[in-house]
Amino acid sequence: MGKQARISGTGFAVPPRILTNAEISQRVDTTDEWIRTRTGIEERRIASEDMHNSDLAAEASRKALCAAGIAAEEIDMIVVATTTSDMPFPSMACILQQALGARRAAVFDVVAACSGFVYALSVARQYVASGECRHVLVTASEVLSRVTDWSDRSTCILFGDGAGAVVLSASDEGASDILAFHLGGDGRLGDLLKIPAGGSSKPASHETVNAREHTIRMNGAEVFKAAVQKMNFCMRMVLRRAGLEASDLDLVIPHQANLRIIDSLRKYLDLPREKVYVNLQKYGNTSAASIAIALAECVASKRLARGNLLGMCAFGGGLTWGACVLRY
Ligand code: COA
Repeated sequence: MGKQARISGTGFAVPPRILTNAEISQRVDTTDEWIRTRTGIEERRIASEDMHNSDLAAEASRKALCAAGIAAEEIDMIVVATTTSDMPFPSMACILQQALGARRAAVFDVVAACSGFVYALSVARQYVASGECRHVLVTASEVLSRVTDWSDRSTCILFGDGAGAVVLSASDEGASDILAFHLGGDGRLGDLLKIPAGGSSKPASHETVNAREHTIRMNGAEVFKAAVQKMNFCMRMVLRRAGLEASDLDLVIPHQANLRIIDSLRKYLDLPREKVYVNLQKYGNTSAASIAIALAECVASKRLARGNLLGMCAFGGGLTWGACVLRY
């Protein structure tokens, strides 16, 4: 497929405010022990009231551009993955373009809930591989704390805020390249995880606000089952497409939703613990941003080195799922 697509820079940003399980247990009927054993989450980051999603996105993006050694004016396209955009429109990508001064860039958002980063990266790869773009900025950023029902103990324990970004650049040399994607979805299962109001079908009204319909609704047990099944399925599909075995991978970054979901993927792939990256104890589920944050952390800590084979797989509302295999 034409040009090689190389991750030339990564970055991430999380708000400084840490919300611990102990603090949540003062607001709703839960315990630190319950949250840790059922999810693996210990704490999450929460944006302050004056912090916008685009502020986090811009911070992560600047770090990725700096790591890639390119100026904002060199970006040909910005693709933002988010479900918690600053506002219905303009898109987050437009707001981010303005913040960065990326005047030449085409700008749009991709909405695929927690699978958003993998979906957005697949779009970027097409433009880079076709030769249409030299540098695409892919930024995944969420402030889920703004759409969390803080009185619902089955969801408020799960989510957090943060952003991750990568610059994907065209390359003719070296081994770095994206090898394969597998993307999918099943709209029949959309009711399992959604924000019911605030769109054009059910615009904001006193009734929707009173009924808390602007916050996340989830059938946790059903989502859990589907997540295990679809994460395993899309990893199998992407490995087959890349002509690889799971044992060939140096590192797997799964979507950080629940440690038990990640453990089932690890067992399914028969991978040792050290090959599967986990940071959800620190950040909870940051939806689209989760893999992007983890990727930037792995690069920063040298857990991921040039030439390594990396697998990523995500699952989320929609339902959607997506996996990618690349040589870093
Ligand atoms: N503290 C204490 N008890 C809680 C609780 C909490 N925070 N949240 C739920 N419970 C209770 C439930 O009310 C239920 O009580 P009941 O049996 O008296 O009705 C009990 O715990 C079991 O609930 P259940 O939903 O079966 O628990 P679970 O083991 O499935 O864990 C989740 C709940 C939400 C942690 C789990 O279903 C999950 O992680 N699902 C996937 C969610 C996800 O990843 N979503 C994002 C996808 S991208």
